[in-house]
Amino acid sequence: MSFQLVLFGGTGDLAWRKILPALFQAYRHQTLPKDGRIIGVARDKMSDEDFRTLIGERLQNVEGEKRPELAEFTEFAKQLFYQSCDLNKSSDYGALKQKLEEHPTDLCVMYLATAPHLFTTICEHLGATGLNTENTRIVLEKPLGQNLKTNREINATVKNFFSEKQIFRIDHYLGKPSVQNLFALRFGNSLFEPLLRRDTVSSIQITLSEQIGISTRGPFYEQTGALRDMIQNHALQLLCAIAMEPPINAHADAIRDEKLKVLRSLTPWTAQTLRSDIVRGQYSAGLVAGVAVKGYAQEVGVAANSQTETFVALKTEVNNWRWAGVPFYLRTGKRMAEQDARIVINFRPTPHPIFQTPNGAANQLVIHLQPKDGMALHLFAQGQALSATPKNTASTLGPLLSPVQLDLDFDKRFGSDRVGAYERLLLDALSGRLNLFVRSDEQEAAWAWVEPILQDWETGDAPLHTYPSGTWGPSQSKVMIASAGHHWDED
Ligand code: BG6
Repeated sequence: MSFQLVLFGGTGDLAWRKILPALFQAYRHQTLPKDGRIIGVARDKMSDEDFRTLIGERLQNVEGEKRPELAEFTEFAKQLFYQSCDLNKSSDYGALKQKLEEHPTDLCVMYLATAPHLFTTICEHLGATGLNTENTRIVLEKPLGQNLKTNREINATVKNFFSEKQIFRIDHYLGKPSVQNLFALRFGNSLFEPLLRRDTVSSIQITLSEQIGISTRGPFYEQTGALRDMIQNHALQLLCAIAMEPPINAHADAIRDEKLKVLRSLTPWTAQTLRSDIVRGQYSAGLVAGVAVKGYAQEVGVAANSQTETFVALKTEVNNWRWAGVPFYLRTGKRMAEQDARIVINFRPTPHPIFQTPNGAANQLVIHLQPKDGMALHLFAQGQALSATPKNTASTLGPLLSPVQLDLDFDKRFGSDRVGAYERLLLDALSGRLNLFVRSDEQEAAWAWVEPILQDWETGDAPLHTYPSGTWGPSQSKVMIASAGHHWDED
């Protein structure tokens, strides 16, 4: 198969940090079709050769073994081309079309790695120039819009020019091997599925914590904040993966139908729960892994009196037969104590205890998504020798059990150099596989659910707590979860 991949935003942060390194890895793994051209598109004037040099230099910043050797980059670079384009200028799209027609291919992928407010403009120009043929696919980076209204507008415009099966909406968490493994754990094993329901589970926690701050992305983050950046998409997609019913088959729509049902079952917000079940925060100066870092309001491109949240913790429920009454806690933040993405499933205690467990603890299934990729099942066992058992004949409870763990490390088992998220998703977009991309109705349901929160925050009445960098967020997040009788897993 021959292809051309047009990378709008070709010199931007996302292009050189994620997309081009992923394309290079696919080239290295010999999964990138050889008869393919990658055309970077940006406003700057430069030649193909200048673009290759620029990307060559930038890829030297890629971590460790993923950094290209000179000889292999030179080979890969033969697939790189460049087209300067003012995204508002029709004639520039004409020039792009000419460049594409010089080298006709089976498939053309338009990858929009630009700011989302440009998506409609680009689509309209692609349509007007006739660059939306049947052999074209379009890849859209998140966030798709700023709220429900802009999300609908973007989706409506894109759908004017492309059919749903041509549209690939990225949520890169779905491309992570650990997240795909979550589907395998649930639907490729019969062991856990009967246990994942209200009769056995007492609560579920999803934590996506990062130690990094916002780096050079101040202006973007000011417009976005943690709710739009992480909760509306990544965290909700994980919630869907853990809460959805088994799909009828492995086709994209069967999976998306089930995820959609979960999103539509989330408890709607009320004036009361907007106050009691959500905590938002912003990091102040502190120490992250022993290094002093500044507060969010002092970051470049951030207003000194910024009200943007860098942390969100919330409680919700999935109102259906399987999950009614089970709280789902979601939490994300920048400049937190640790980098960690995990899902913790807390099981109910035994119905009639005849043993004691430390602090009355119950079983847990912890799914580690990153940096560790694995799974741990927390059980209890009797470790003491019989003679050490207290001779308290008056007690009706047996001895204190010891916590033990069944621990699986998928990096050790499968290697840590598995196909990365962007590499997986790019290859899927090239081969037309939509399973790991988000359908418009799913996205809309997720925006509809966060919309009341955004509106509430716009009034300025909701508190914004600060937390020192290097901690687990504002103390109010602990209070929120404790009020329902639970605690965050790290406590
Ligand atoms: C992106 C967000 O979608 O995901 C970033 O815009 C965040 O703010 C990143 O840092 C986290 O992704 P990962 O793969 O590093 O967990």
